[in-house]
Amino acid sequence: MLSTREMQDEILRLKKENDICILAHAYQSHDILEIADYTGDSYGLSLEAAKATQKTVLMCGVRFMAETVKILSPDKKVLLSNSDAGCPMAEQLDVELLSALKAQNPDYTVVAYINTTSELKTICDVCVTSSSAVKIVKNIDNDKILFIPDCNLGAWVKEQVPEKEFKFVHGGCPTHLRMSVRDVKKAKAAHPNAKLLVHPECLSEVTKEADYIGSTTGIMDYARKSSDTEFIIGTENSILQHLQFECPDKKFYPLSKDCVCHNMKLTTLVDVYNCVKGTGGEEIILDEDVREKALKCINTMLTLG
Ligand code: 13P
Ligand code: SF4
Repeated sequence: MLSTREMQDEILRLKKENDICILAHAYQSHDILEIADYTGDSYGLSLEAAKATQKTVLMCGVRFMAETVKILSPDKKVLLSNSDAGCPMAEQLDVELLSALKAQNPDYTVVAYINTTSELKTICDVCVTSSSAVKIVKNIDNDKILFIPDCNLGAWVKEQVPEKEFKFVHGGCPTHLRMSVRDVKKAKAAHPNAKLLVHPECLSEVTKEADYIGSTTGIMDYARKSSDTEFIIGTENSILQHLQFECPDKKFYPLSKDCVCHNMKLTTLVDVYNCVKGTGGEEIILDEDVREKALKCINTMLTLG
């Protein structure tokens, strides 16, 4: 049996030998982040996916992230490290329902959070991520925005773009929805000197209380650069461990111990090892018509962002 360290060394050797680029979302465990070529938020991952020079890209994250890589790089072999890792929010809306909403709102631009399936993206106008949403919505040449599927992210964008008219469809991240204003009160009482950093997928009652609201990369950058030394983190709890490694002299507390994304946690270092050995993972195959239509939606994001 290999130790964690031996397995990491083998992964590093095999990914080089087999020309594999490993992308890891910031919600992955620390042992995976250590062997990745790039780690970051959804926007950063899509930029890296577009630039990667390797023949194979291995996504350690959830399915829509691996699909985004395949949409941008059709000639590459794209692997999802654990085929059960999906994002429940990405499944909340289907093509039939969104088509009906579009028919009822023909003059609205459909803005899709990147956490959507590739099929759904085929009938959306532009994708956004938490770090690019405000800028992109401002840059859209229409004042009417149909924002899907995350109402909380949408409400946060709306606050910063008050000149536009928004419509939302019920949806949101089940992981971030677990955090409430009660958690904020409890955490602030326990750590009165800590800054509260939260993700915009949180309820507005939570974001209202925050010192900083941003994507996973935004939260990590804020904590790294801040002269403050204590932080309550309102996003998936893996971030706490990464920050603790990077900033051993600062203190990080979870806003809620329940903020764990079980889908992000499915991928293990052993999955990654099996993928680079050629015995694991799922190769992402997309219908070419779906890929081309979804590509327009992602490319519009990269252009406007
Ligand atoms: P970001 O990576 O854009 O911060 O989004 C968080 C998330 O929930 C991804 O599924
Ligand atoms: Fe989906 Fe939320 Fe998990 Fe991100 S944290 S993958 S949005 S369920």
